[in-house]
Amino acid sequence: MSEIQEARAAKVDAAIAVLKDIEQQYSPAILASSFGAEDMVLMDLICKHAPGIDIFTLDTGRLPKQTYDLMQQLTSHYDKKVQVFFPDASDIEAFVTSNGPNAFYDSVELRKQCCGIRKVAPLKRALEGKKAWLTGMRRSQSVTRAELPVSEWDDDHGLQKFSPLTDWSNGDVWAYIKANEVPYNTLHDEGYASIGCAPCTRAIAMGEDIRAGRWWWEDPENKECGLHVKSK
Ligand code: ADX
Ligand code: SF4
Repeated sequence: MSEIQEARAAKVDAAIAVLKDIEQQYSPAILASSFGAEDMVLMDLICKHAPGIDIFTLDTGRLPKQTYDLMQQLTSHYDKKVQVFFPDASDIEAFVTSNGPNAFYDSVELRKQCCGIRKVAPLKRALEGKKAWLTGMRRSQSVTRAELPVSEWDDDHGLQKFSPLTDWSNGDVWAYIKANEVPYNTLHDEGYASIGCAPCTRAIAMGEDIRAGRWWWEDPENKECGLHVKSK
């Protein structure tokens, strides 16, 4: 094994150890999955090594076709159901009636309101009664994630929050996906590094920042949807 392969194998072992510990010590625990590359690595590891951990997704209603295709594929690929959480219908109706379907382009405030209704409120419901949640975030993804710990207390939701892949590089993620033939979102093959809602995500050019395609019209320090923002 080359040095880089050994380092990658060690990262996989470390992630499995974290997942097994969560499964034993923090039940019921649940992975938040957007079906991005990192979340697919975690889904694969959970299904193989820590099947007691549940998985949910927030279906905003505005996801790209390719994400729905992957969701469909996953209904038969793994022996685990992904729990789906939708936004509150009356909140969406009121927001779109007042502001229009594409209000997120008009101001950061409206964009955050849309994320609040479509993601943040359903997240609260998804985490009710849980002892821990897991995310696929990595430190090298963004300036806002540079200090991200593997484990931290999430005061806003009142449970432990784990990011088992914090120290993984983009190359580590893709090496795992290829070696294990993990299903992935085909938008990644079209230059999409980070994938969210269709109207708020674009492909990135060579050399551009990984999250440059998310809310690309906003400044980098605004680029969090509220799922991972601490209120204090
Ligand atoms: S975001 O906050 O900007 O949307 P990003 O797309 O980088 O986040 O994803 C970071 C982590 O947030 C993912 O690994 C996943 O754990 C969680 N996440 C993001 N979007 C969703 C979603 N729609 N459903 C469930 N979890 C999500
Ligand atoms: Fe709304 Fe865009 Fe946020 Fe999706 S990413 S919830 S469409 S503002």
